[in-house]
Amino acid sequence: MPNPKSTNTYQPGLSAELVKKKYAVSKVVKLASNENPLGPSLNAINAARQEILSLNRYPDGKCSDLIEEIRVYHKKYKLKTKNIIIGNGSNEILELIGRTFLAKNDEVIISKHAFLVYKMISNSMRAKIVEVNINKKNDASFMTVNLDSIKDSISSKTKVIFIANPSNPTGTIIDSKRLKEFLKSIPKKIIVVIDEAYIEYACYRGHKSALDLIKDFKNIIITRSFSKIYAIAGSRVGYGISQTDIIQKLNSMRQPFNVNQIAQIMAIKSLKDKKFLRDSLEINKTCYEYITKELDKDSIKYIDSYTNFITIYFGIDASVIFEGLLKKGIILRPLKNYGLPNYLRVTIGTMNECKLFIKNLRILLKRTR
Ligand SMILES: Cc1ncc(COP(=O)(O)O)c(C=O)c1O
Repeated sequence: MPNPKSTNTYQPGLSAELVKKKYAVSKVVKLASNENPLGPSLNAINAARQEILSLNRYPDGKCSDLIEEIRVYHKKYKLKTKNIIIGNGSNEILELIGRTFLAKNDEVIISKHAFLVYKMISNSMRAKIVEVNINKKNDASFMTVNLDSIKDSISSKTKVIFIANPSNPTGTIIDSKRLKEFLKSIPKKIIVVIDEAYIEYACYRGHKSALDLIKDFKNIIITRSFSKIYAIAGSRVGYGISQTDIIQKLNSMRQPFNVNQIAQIMAIKSLKDKKFLRDSLEINKTCYEYITKELDKDSIKYIDSYTNFITIYFGIDASVIFEGLLKKGIILRPLKNYGLPNYLRVTIGTMNECKLFIKNLRILLKRTR
């Protein structure tokens, strides 16, 4: 039974409109929510415009065309239609997992500083959260998921393990070989969620997706998002991939028309637009290199990221810097509620946005140091 008293609230990045009003700035640069700064693929925009004319009709409740497109996209993994479920953002898939597999007093294992939605979902199902330590060195820029700690925390009550790979807000990855060893070593009745919302950026740096592991491990669910590299966060689409029996269970928990038709068509067009994907990855790489080089020049520490964001360490309560940047119309993400009060997360924007960020950060740091 879900917990109606759960006091969970997710704090999204501040909106541009709010910052414009509050700080009386005419231009706002939003680097807070790991969105693709290029805007959606033009093909997706045009298809959405056309689709508006049919909004008197219900959407395809089975998302058949989108599932087929995803199957084709991942053809080397030989997925069947029944291996895929589409959600209203990948958050909906995470929520369906909670509602399907969690009940009161079940245990859920989550890493420290992990994506907060895992906690929200577990709390709402009255499950007990077992938060495990991560690998840390005496260096603020090193912070990776600790699979040994996760394994050591497994009990007879463990039902679900959530792992984001790459992780948010730290941006780090677990090597796929290491993940495979871990999966081999744990009880097969535990559902392991591998959240790959940022996987395209990691693959661009040579990392491997866990999709390779689907055939060998019947207990894993991989989630993917259209909100990051595919640039349609506002339309809300994501998907899950797993064994047919798990997908069937998840499907039985969802609303019949959970994904609207515009989101479906935009997702299809975004997947097809390989040039948009390449351009987005290339711009992200160039801008990542620019930001990190500039941070290095000033000896500012950050966590090496496999994503479209960088988590920067300031050595002091970073809210001063966050506020200072807001006054200049630049929105970052404070990480106090992730247990990282001395860090801020910056989404990699366009080169102009990144330059503006670095310029204003330098001015602020001169004042605070
Ligand atoms: C690790 C991770 N998983 C899932 C999501 C949710 O994405 P979606 O927009 O597809 O619901 C996010 C969004 O920030 C994320 O960072």
